[in-house]
Amino acid sequence: MALAAAGNPQWTSRFAFLMAAIGSAVGLGNLWGFPFRTGQNGGSAFVLVYLLCVLLVAYPILMSELMVGRHKGLSAIESTAQLAKDSGKSANWGIVGVVGVFGAFLLLTTYSVIAGQVMAFGVMSTTGGFSGGPGAGLYDGTLMPLLWHTIFMAMTIFVVAQGLHNGIERFVTILMPAFFVMLAGLCIYSLVNGASGQALSYLFEPRFDEVTPSVVLAAMGQAFFSLSLGCATMITYGTFLSQDENIASSGGLIAGSDTLVAVISGLMIFPIVFAFDLDPAQGFGLMFSAMPAVFTEMPGGAFIGATFFVLALVAALTSAISLLIVAAIAGQNYTGLGKAGSAIVFGGAVWLVGAATIFISGLGANIDFFANSIALPVGGLLVAVLVGWVAPSAAMRGELPHASDRLFSAWRFLVRYVAPVAITITLILGLDQRFGFGLNRALASLTG
Ligand code: PHE
Repeated sequence: MALAAAGNPQWTSRFAFLMAAIGSAVGLGNLWGFPFRTGQNGGSAFVLVYLLCVLLVAYPILMSELMVGRHKGLSAIESTAQLAKDSGKSANWGIVGVVGVFGAFLLLTTYSVIAGQVMAFGVMSTTGGFSGGPGAGLYDGTLMPLLWHTIFMAMTIFVVAQGLHNGIERFVTILMPAFFVMLAGLCIYSLVNGASGQALSYLFEPRFDEVTPSVVLAAMGQAFFSLSLGCATMITYGTFLSQDENIASSGGLIAGSDTLVAVISGLMIFPIVFAFDLDPAQGFGLMFSAMPAVFTEMPGGAFIGATFFVLALVAALTSAISLLIVAAIAGQNYTGLGKAGSAIVFGGAVWLVGAATIFISGLGANIDFFANSIALPVGGLLVAVLVGWVAPSAAMRGELPHASDRLFSAWRFLVRYVAPVAITITLILGLDQRFGFGLNRALASLTG
């Protein structure tokens, strides 16, 4: 612990840690990605596959990241390097942290542009901008997107620059409880006023014939992204953890809340989608332009619409700060910059790359593909290998003192065998889907 005291600050309370970690996990991926993918990939069949991915792969990796971070209490890169060194292995294992930091940096560049769009649409929907009223054109051209991206990054930098206690903790402990209240309210509103029967059967009626390899791929990708894994975020949040935090139980709470929010988001969105005959497969457009348009036709619509966008903004902001702090802390350790300086410099670099994606067509999609389909799975795979094979079992046992022997063995089995195999398959299928070696098609014809 001496190291941690000399290095990073610590969470002031378990509540603060949980709100920050749940805030990181709960993001646009829950509000939009999960409902959308569920609708596209076989309803509850997808939900079931998703739950298996979370339970067997994502949750054990989430625990692993928190354990690795806390073990050394340094930045993600130093923590992973030190863990390997202490285990008599090469400090080059710091690559686990490097891949993660790089992934977090890239993810934030496009995440911020999308969050900016969400903000713009929020303003437009409450001012009638979609039907030519005030605020029309607020997201036109390239300069408006640039402006919104700039505002969102400025907010993210503002929070992270104030550090763990005055920045992140202060915001998440207010924002996340507010998020849950808004989410519950909107979900009830939507179930009462929308076509809830149709929504429930769309979401939960199993369509197992639709489960193909690409569905499994979608579920695994969604689980990694949604739980903020593979990009050193949870390693970094783990470095602020005290030794008496029970990582198995808090990891369970984080994974459970994240999954619950994803399902509730589906219950919030689809009743309205079906009530207004919108196309459920529309994806992003569905969530952020079709929905606001129909709010205006519903009772109390302006207020509901505004709440919906505040909800999305809170989700996006608490995720973005967790992405920026990864690079900010690593930068602080390596450059000697202070916490504010590091947040500004690295946040500024994220802003610049994000801005480039607005002007260079195709760049954003390539970054997304690289971050989500390569960096995240590779980052997760490396974490599994690090804790499962490189670090001695005893060192890891020390990070799970509350766990029974049985639970510890189960965790270890999952990170040594199940996770590496599952992630490797996902990685290959993901590359195949993009570059087309024909694997997905061959597998689909086998199962179909
Ligand atoms: N989990 C966040 C979401 O669902 C995104 C995210 C990914 C945040 C990785 C941090 C790290 O939107």
